[in-house]
Amino acid sequence: MSLEAEIVRWKEKRHALLLAHNYQVPEVQDAADFVGDSLYLSRQAVASEAPVICFAGVRFMAETAKILNPEKTILLPDLAAGCTLADSITAEQLRTWKSEHPGAVVVSYVNTSAEVKAESDYCCTSSNAVRIVAQIPADKEILFLPDMFLGEWVKKSTGRSNVHLWAGDCPVHAKLRPETLSRARAEHPGAQVIAHPECGCGTQVLPMVDKVLSTDGMMRFAQTTHDAEVIVATEVGILHRMRRDNPTTKFLALDEGAICPFMKQIDLTDVRDSLAEMRFQIDVPAETIRRARLPLERMIAS
Ligand code: 13P
Ligand code: SF4
Repeated sequence: MSLEAEIVRWKEKRHALLLAHNYQVPEVQDAADFVGDSLYLSRQAVASEAPVICFAGVRFMAETAKILNPEKTILLPDLAAGCTLADSITAEQLRTWKSEHPGAVVVSYVNTSAEVKAESDYCCTSSNAVRIVAQIPADKEILFLPDMFLGEWVKKSTGRSNVHLWAGDCPVHAKLRPETLSRARAEHPGAQVIAHPECGCGTQVLPMVDKVLSTDGMMRFAQTTHDAEVIVATEVGILHRMRRDNPTTKFLALDEGAICPFMKQIDLTDVRDSLAEMRFQIDVPAETIRRARLPLERMIAS
């Protein structure tokens, strides 16, 4: 029996839902019930009645699913699937930062640990960061974390000057630099350029691109565009569905080396084993769940 068929069988047996992020390897994306960005997958985890959710993504995504669905069993097929950006701030560091800015509103990107979410007022994803910050009263100071490039983008888009940024970044996106973009533009003069707001340096790269989008925003654009060529400035895993869903447009990676090692930890064998052995179950302490729920519910609602 093929691994794909085994996964179908185990999903049925466990009454499980398989979610995969846009950066997962192609065969895992193809096996999933839903593929998407952080916001879409969080919403699917809430909407589903499946008692078991196998999350082919990274740890903070599985933790988010657990906080929003404490009664469900959440599986992460490989515990090595972390995130450098999420590791760039601890709850202790956030508490210290908050004490330096009493009364400030804390907006945390979903790429954070459960403990950091529990210290936050709002969570956001790249899809709704601008919307969420824009709705916070203009006189309120904001602590935005942990991605400084996304934060710069949010500041620019909302026109707010009272947003303090944590100096974290994603190494995969931070290396997508203005110089690479200028070169690509020169080599492909007619191409559209779409970029994820984590790209570095946000203030320099993002004004040079045609659209700044979350990974799902990029997918929606890719599915409907009639452009001959599109340059994609994000992790290369997203190209699989773009090319499959729109074979008449040529999708090029801004950098073929933009590969997130954490997103490539999970393969079909890990997914099969995860469902068969019900591993690795993600647990979050009840008190952390209680405190992290409201900021995440605000994220889902925006
Ligand atoms: P999205 O929210 O766009 O899925 O991005 C998640 C991520 O980890 C980007 O590096
Ligand atoms: Fe984290 Fe960057 Fe990988 Fe996204 S691409 S999971 S932000 S390390």
